[in-house]
Amino acid sequence: MLLQIKNLKVGYRNIEVVRGVELNIDKGECVGLIGESGCGKTTVGLSVTKLIPERIGMTSGEILFEDKNILKLNPEELRNIRGKKISYVFQEPFSSLNPVFTVYEQIREMLEKKNNIYIQIAEILKSVGLEKIIGRKNVYPHELSGGMQQRAMIGMAIASKPSLVILDEPTTALDVTIQRQILDLITGLKNKMNLSILFISHDLRIVFSIADKIGIMYAGKIVEYGTKEKIISSPSHPYTIGLIDSIPSFEHRKQLFNVIGGKAPLFSELPKGCKFYPRCRFRIKECLKKEPELKDISADHFSRCILTSEIAARRLPKQNRSI
Ligand SMILES: Nc1ncnc2c1ncn2[C@@H]1O[C@H](COP(=O)(O)OP(=O)(O)OP(=O)(O)O)[C@@H](O)[C@H]1O
Ligand SMILES: [Mg+2]
Repeated sequence: MLLQIKNLKVGYRNIEVVRGVELNIDKGECVGLIGESGCGKTTVGLSVTKLIPERIGMTSGEILFEDKNILKLNPEELRNIRGKKISYVFQEPFSSLNPVFTVYEQIREMLEKKNNIYIQIAEILKSVGLEKIIGRKNVYPHELSGGMQQRAMIGMAIASKPSLVILDEPTTALDVTIQRQILDLITGLKNKMNLSILFISHDLRIVFSIADKIGIMYAGKIVEYGTKEKIISSPSHPYTIGLIDSIPSFEHRKQLFNVIGGKAPLFSELPKGCKFYPRCRFRIKECLKKEPELKDISADHFSRCILTSEIAARRLPKQNRSI
């Protein structure tokens, strides 16, 4: 296992927003992390490279990368991992590219070996579909379109030949056609470089198109985890079911689709028992007693709901659903 996140907890100003996350990523595997805005996805991603400063966030648990606990590494050890073995594509790509340096300079900065620099940069530009700017050493980020900037960001992320890349909403700011191209690019690089990927998104359709395994997060915890196939064919947590049911299907676009009512609770006012209870259409009184554990329901499939088997029995067969 390349990365193991164990009982990760992160609190900002004494309010816990990541409340015990467990997640594993194997070599060459893409794990999607999905959930509504504010559920803690970016906080998990940032914790993997210990990017949350101690004065801002209290972090506990273990993040084992190549069998070392990242949360216990000193600054020098971290420097050998960040941007080298693990790279990060941030949620706001345009603010992550530095406007005062050329694209060449920014990729050069990330190279592990400083020999044959221009050959290396040309190879990277080619692998991210930026052949157009090979040899054009004076191109600045603002001269590129949004899609090309995102390609440049991905180029920087793979320049050091990392084993893990964290992509935080890498396509949210792009229009649908460009989004598709970037997702294809990421999948291609993953296969070619045997990359492991943590792919953060709030869009289930995007995660379905790219991830091998999916963790669904709600109010700071994973509520369902499984292979993409299991999540598509037998979603088991009511929150996942709500997310899937709210995807308008292509054929039934004009029909009304079910959306999850209500809002996620504030971290400072979490309800007792199951945190999804107030919005759950399957809820029973029992759910208020205590927050359910993440339990395995079949091989490679886990759910944090006491009603999993009852819900499965009430679900429509797959062919009658939108996906
Ligand atoms: N630096 C910070 N200080 C205080 N609270 C923070 C800080 N960063 C995030 N939070 C809070 O922590 C919670 C989780 O935030 P996080 O950014 O991890 O969520 P997210 O799932 O990535 O959301 P989004 O989909 O909007 O990017 C939110 O309630 C947010 O307001
Ligand atoms: Mg985020």
